[in-house]
Amino acid sequence: MTTRILSGIRPTGHIHLGNYLGAIRSWVSMLNQVDECLFCIVDQHALTTAEDAKDLRKNTLTIAAAYIASGIDPIKNHIFVQSHVPYHTELAWYFNCITPMGWLSRMTQFKDKAGKNKDQAMTGLFVYPALMAADILVYKATHVPVGEDQKQHVELTRDIAQAFNNYVGAPVFPHPEPIIKGETARIMSLRDGTKKMSKSDPSDYSRIHLLDDNETIQLKIRKAKTDAEPIPGEIDGLQNRPEARNLLNLYAIFTSTSLEKVCQDFEGKLFSEFKLKLADATVAHLGPIREKMLELLADETSLLQYLKKGSDTANAVGSAHLKEVRQALNMV
Ligand code: TYM
Repeated sequence: MTTRILSGIRPTGHIHLGNYLGAIRSWVSMLNQVDECLFCIVDQHALTTAEDAKDLRKNTLTIAAAYIASGIDPIKNHIFVQSHVPYHTELAWYFNCITPMGWLSRMTQFKDKAGKNKDQAMTGLFVYPALMAADILVYKATHVPVGEDQKQHVELTRDIAQAFNNYVGAPVFPHPEPIIKGETARIMSLRDGTKKMSKSDPSDYSRIHLLDDNETIQLKIRKAKTDAEPIPGEIDGLQNRPEARNLLNLYAIFTSTSLEKVCQDFEGKLFSEFKLKLADATVAHLGPIREKMLELLADETSLLQYLKKGSDTANAVGSAHLKEVRQALNMV
């Protein structure tokens, strides 16, 4: 069986460390383990929260630059924009017709974003998971590397694939597997260790943006919330200390060590001292990515050519699969 990865990021707000560690870095680690990799910038999803979609063009290009600067070769892999491939929205419509509203109402992301006044929420926000299922299944992707917060949507994608297969009485779609990497699955806010780092947090100090300069990264880490206790020698000592755990975990990731080893190495030290080391490690990792992103963004023509190459392939695969879907649905 052909193994195919599909994943994507919404071009809303600033792309941040959570997106990089939870998604892009895990994609990069899988590049040589699968047959084909497709990475999408899901601009149509950005429209479901209109207030975030103001800088759609700029954010779309920035995300494309982030993918490439992080190590995704746009020639060997396919990087493209969702709206350049019309088959996503076509398939999403067929999925809307076989997906019970109850399934969509249970999605925690919808509940969070719609808030108390669900009747006022836009239809696009409600059916978002059906479009996400289409993003994945239009390519018959077998693996979907994402952060923890997207697990429920990928599980729903499996249910939608099964519902469609049952409806047409043929195994048209695979059941894609979510791939969620433990230590990077949930990077937390720098201001509140119980909340995930997120583009929608009003405070810029809650997250590190991939385009932050070195001084800004250092400042954000210096200002990150911690507690007054020294660093414990064992992981057990991090219980009920979410901010401390998050910062130590980031250091472990950037220095390719384990959380256990970081606790041992910094036992008894104060966070004021540890934060300087964490800032150095973060700058050493993100600095070259930022520089490469800026270089790519300065040459928009080349960036657009990479996206065109990606969408040419995506359109070819999507077109063949949609032909099969229409036939399965008995369309003329
Ligand atoms: P989005 O744009 O909110 O986030 C993009 C990716 O980043 C991950 N992520 C995190 N990982 C760890 N810690 C965090 N604090 C953190 N914040 C975000 C997300 O889990 C995600 O992997 N619905 C999706 C976009 C999407 C998609 C798809 C993804 C649309 N179609 C098809 C995969 C396949 C979303 O809103 O991600």
